[in-house]
Amino acid sequence: MKKITFPPGFLWGSATSSYQVEGGIKNADWSKFKDSKQACRHYFLYNDDFALAKKLGHNAHRFSIEWSRIEPKEGRLSKKEVTHYQKMIHSLRKYKLEPFVTLFHFTLPQWLSDKGGFSNKKAPDYFKRYVEFVVKNLKGVRFWLTINEPMIYTTKGYLFGQWPPFKKGIYSFFKAVLNLVSAHKKAFSIIHQYQPSAFVGIAKNNFFFTSWLFFPMKYFWNEYFLQKIRKQIDFIGLNYYFTKRLLKNKKADLSDLGWEINPLGLYFVLMDLKKYQLPIYITENGLADAEDAKRKYFIISHIKAMHRAINNGVPLKGYFYWSLLDNFEWDYGFEARFGLIEVDFKTQKRKPRDSAFLYKEICENNEIPSLL
Ligand code: FCB
Repeated sequence: MKKITFPPGFLWGSATSSYQVEGGIKNADWSKFKDSKQACRHYFLYNDDFALAKKLGHNAHRFSIEWSRIEPKEGRLSKKEVTHYQKMIHSLRKYKLEPFVTLFHFTLPQWLSDKGGFSNKKAPDYFKRYVEFVVKNLKGVRFWLTINEPMIYTTKGYLFGQWPPFKKGIYSFFKAVLNLVSAHKKAFSIIHQYQPSAFVGIAKNNFFFTSWLFFPMKYFWNEYFLQKIRKQIDFIGLNYYFTKRLLKNKKADLSDLGWEINPLGLYFVLMDLKKYQLPIYITENGLADAEDAKRKYFIISHIKAMHRAINNGVPLKGYFYWSLLDNFEWDYGFEARFGLIEVDFKTQKRKPRDSAFLYKEICENNEIPSLL
């Protein structure tokens, strides 16, 4: 049997975001809405967590900076908090984990949310000021992600009013989308100004659409934002979870949240991104599976789909499983168990799941074990 081997230097890791794992976040707009409380106490336990990621074979790690810690009050930028994130970078470097740093992953400082968040025309400049402060003060990062999932974020927060800042309607939605485009562009230039050799991307959630009847939606959801920023981006981060069908596939395998498991979709979504001629990293892909019953299959099948895409010319350079730890999930709280590592939220004990060891073999050998 032919070995399924990945290109040399391929990055293997997992991802988290500040609000979902850190704990003790008081000044974010989500804090009043749904408090993530102590979450995984990752703010204090990050060094142990990174040591564990290293033991599990990872060579990269994606996490986010919490804007509401850096700028709890308008214009008051905290050196102390940036130093905290600098320590996280040092810890990642110590364990030879390449950091991928997200600057905005869904949570805004309360003061900005009160002004309408990204529907406020000044938001791109507020973002620029925050990003400038971070990149001036944080050393040792090569890969920056400006924004996590702009389409999911604006749909929930500015179209349907389900997430902070709870705006509703087409008008606030489009304002927010366009302000995020502009925020990204500003961040792209400021990062390159201070760190010319850095790579700047976004994490884009793309769906697999099964029918051509979805064409307009597919263009708008998967391509629109990327087209707007295609001259100001060094790589594409892809978050892949969803398949959109005309009729429900009753035979499909589902995660604990009822999300369809469809590795073939990942292959097609990757093939669609080939035209941008940019390096691609899968910045999120994973499933909620408390029993760890389907995660091994999930990981293997998605990684096989990636390999097929690479063989067909997709410049895929890395993969980040979502998530390193069980954590706070936006719509589901602590019930959704996405972690390679199980977390007991009472004791804060960590226990790698079986699937984490399978993933370790893949990461360490840069190939899928030949029996699978
Ligand atoms: C993505 C989010 C991430 C996580 C996963 C399950 O949409 O970016 O924070 O919640 O879904």
